[in-house]
Amino acid sequence: MSQQIPLEFVDRSGTDCVKWDIPHSHPSPMMMWVADMEIASPKPVVDAIAKRAAHHAYGYPVAPKEVNKCIRQWAAKCFNWDINTEWISHSPGVCGSVAASIQAFTQPGDRIVVLSPIYFPLTNLPEDNGREAVRSSLIFDDKTRKWNINWDDFERKISLPRVKMFILCNPHNPTGRMWTREELTRLGELCLKHEVLIVSDEIHWDFALPREGSTPMHVPIASISPELSRNTLTFSAPSKTFNIPSFQFSFCIASNPRLREGFNVFLSRNAAFAENVFAFPAAIAAYTHCYQWVRDCDALFRKHCTMVYEMFSKDKFKGLVDVVDQEATFLLFINMNKAINYFHEKAMAKAGGATDVLRLSNDKALFPLPRNTHPVTGAVLVDPDAPAAEFNRRTAGALKEFIFQKTGVLFNEGSQFGIDGDGWVRMNVGTKTENVEETLKRLESLFDTLFAAYP
Ligand SMILES: Cc1ncc(COP(=O)(O)O)c(C=O)c1O
Repeated sequence: MSQQIPLEFVDRSGTDCVKWDIPHSHPSPMMMWVADMEIASPKPVVDAIAKRAAHHAYGYPVAPKEVNKCIRQWAAKCFNWDINTEWISHSPGVCGSVAASIQAFTQPGDRIVVLSPIYFPLTNLPEDNGREAVRSSLIFDDKTRKWNINWDDFERKISLPRVKMFILCNPHNPTGRMWTREELTRLGELCLKHEVLIVSDEIHWDFALPREGSTPMHVPIASISPELSRNTLTFSAPSKTFNIPSFQFSFCIASNPRLREGFNVFLSRNAAFAENVFAFPAAIAAYTHCYQWVRDCDALFRKHCTMVYEMFSKDKFKGLVDVVDQEATFLLFINMNKAINYFHEKAMAKAGGATDVLRLSNDKALFPLPRNTHPVTGAVLVDPDAPAAEFNRRTAGALKEFIFQKTGVLFNEGSQFGIDGDGWVRMNVGTKTENVEETLKRLESLFDTLFAAYP
């Protein structure tokens, strides 16, 4: 039963929290980065945890049957997806589950395709396991403000020799896309045609913001057809949605027993069991009582995304910053490339060709930073398709550091998600409205300073 539960916000600094308590030297930081919220877990979840904590014995638990029943009901209610409780396995996290499925279903040297830019572990995990991550670059359309699939490129990449797996991120972090049924069907059919297994990371499935008049919104790729169901491992969790990632509980849904068993073998080979005693009551309370709370969070995120879009729609910013038309997640991708080029050209003109402006204190240059250029030495990267890890190491953090040094606002750097995210930042809007307002105030002031310096 879903209840009206108010959204409450918590101050997380000084609580050993990665988002606010990483070492830094800014006197008044505004942490808008890692995908972790300032929204308190909903009261039924907190109450369930408090009740369990009051028992004072925290030995190994066994998952109550109710957990899978709740997951099944949630999938039916939210996504019209009729699953069987036997299809569900538990695991301590989605990233670990992706790693286990890579180990279970591919061999060293095999290729794994992703749509890029993408949440960086989804390329790092294949690479760290000796597989090759093959990026199919999404294309940003600044008219519709959406990232789209380059179908020719995807088809070429998925049909390369040794491609064994496609890791889908749906909804997609960091582009905010919620792939449509049509797009998913086409992706899925190409995978079936080329006998490529689908691993679908759907951890953000609850925050798939509703489009005008259409619910449900998110489509699990495995729900589209029995063929796709048989060819897919779906991973999700209550962790992002209910602000409980530290409980380390996620689940895999696989109707195909061969996939399910293969996956489970590799979980146990890594002793990766979901055994957090608080995770089960938390998940049950969340999926039983908190549907409306999730919808309320959704509405808040939508409002925050609109605030960011409206600010950058002001005349003075026109054409300099793109804010994606957010369809899902609380992670908003913002394109600073045009602003970077604009100020770079102004600075070059002012300095008569050479520029030492906008240099960071650690001597990383923000400008000039044309694509494929080493941020410190200025050397041109020979291979624009250089492996992601290499590119990330070279560009690590110049834009995010520049903004942090000037404003105290910390974003994720777009290039962290691959070369396709170069010049972008990812802003976490899963926070209270005052933090979004303060972030926008500081960003506007930074731009005003730059406009004044480079008229
Ligand atoms: C797309 C995506 N997958 C997985 C994760 C992490 O999941 P877990 O903590 O369960 O490994 C995140 C966290 O931000 C994410 O955005």
